[in-house]
Amino acid sequence: MYSVAPSTITDIGLLTTLVVDDEEPVRNTLQRFLSRIGHEVVTAGSASEALAEASRRKLACILLDMRLPDGSGLELVQALIQREPHVAILMLTAVNDAHTAALCMQRGAMDYLVKPIDLPELDRAITRALAHRREMIEQAETQAWLQREIVQRGAELRRERHNLERISVATLEALVNALEAKDPYLRGHSARVADLAAMIAAEMGLGDEQVEQVRTAGRLHDIGKIGIRESVLGKHGPLTTEEFEHVKSHVMIGAQILAPLTHLREVIGFVRSHHERPDGTGYPDGLSGEAIPVGARIIGAAEVYDALTTARPYQDKMTPEEAVNRMRDLTGTVIHPDVHRALAGVIARRGALIYLDERESLD
Ligand SMILES: [Fe+2]
Repeated sequence: MYSVAPSTITDIGLLTTLVVDDEEPVRNTLQRFLSRIGHEVVTAGSASEALAEASRRKLACILLDMRLPDGSGLELVQALIQREPHVAILMLTAVNDAHTAALCMQRGAMDYLVKPIDLPELDRAITRALAHRREMIEQAETQAWLQREIVQRGAELRRERHNLERISVATLEALVNALEAKDPYLRGHSARVADLAAMIAAEMGLGDEQVEQVRTAGRLHDIGKIGIRESVLGKHGPLTTEEFEHVKSHVMIGAQILAPLTHLREVIGFVRSHHERPDGTGYPDGLSGEAIPVGARIIGAAEVYDALTTARPYQDKMTPEEAVNRMRDLTGTVIHPDVHRALAGVIARRGALIYLDERESLD
């Protein structure tokens, strides 16, 4: 098998034909004839010379003797087509070589002519082969163009879909902000929960995509409060049983609002379950332990932390360290131990200062 380096020569539009034959008189006759009918002609007397010529220039057509001193035409057909996929190869065979010529055509030669060559017949065969070559080139160009179009359209569609997804989330976030803006004690709550939850998620070693899902869920976790009566939402005293049941419905309402946004499947699960508790006493499904999605566990803890560190009419705010200590007492019942460990790490190492700074600028 011959190996040929890939070509770097570009098609300059000339119809160059290579004549490969070990007999010089045959080469000369063919060269004269082809020149007369408008071809630029190069010749080779052996397989190695043929490959050298093929590496040197772009060939449209090759007349290839089946028997060469240094190799068979059959092997050479493959090497030449590997070098120039659409080249029109016509085999020149002796009468008893018809079987091998057929094999050459299976490997990509376009035709074969039996020696001695009838020149008008050669002219017709070359015309047919070059027309076939043009068709193949056009087909390949159309195919390549189609593939480029498909790739480009696919990328555009992905960009558009991503933009729409981003806009839909941003719109919902704006709704949450509007809802929280009415209540000075809630203002910025979801944004703070989102940032802290994302830090906890990263501390727990979750992947980038999951961290962003947790952040998004943090921003949207209380969107269902849109469906809660303002008199209950704004009440600054203990809630009646009926009122508490009504408030609890915000997780289901939130999941319903987000349900059409199919790209938020994980996020919706986190929103729905952010009031579940490890001991199974949470809502809406009474899930416990590991059955609670990890993002929901994190948001639940971040929400408790935010409540403890926010001043309320009925409660002074705790320092971050006090809140972490208080929450330690709640591990296993309200807070998952692994989430608490990560929260303590975030607050102790770097979270406290950043978080406090942000709180100060928001207050
Ligand atoms: Fe909530």
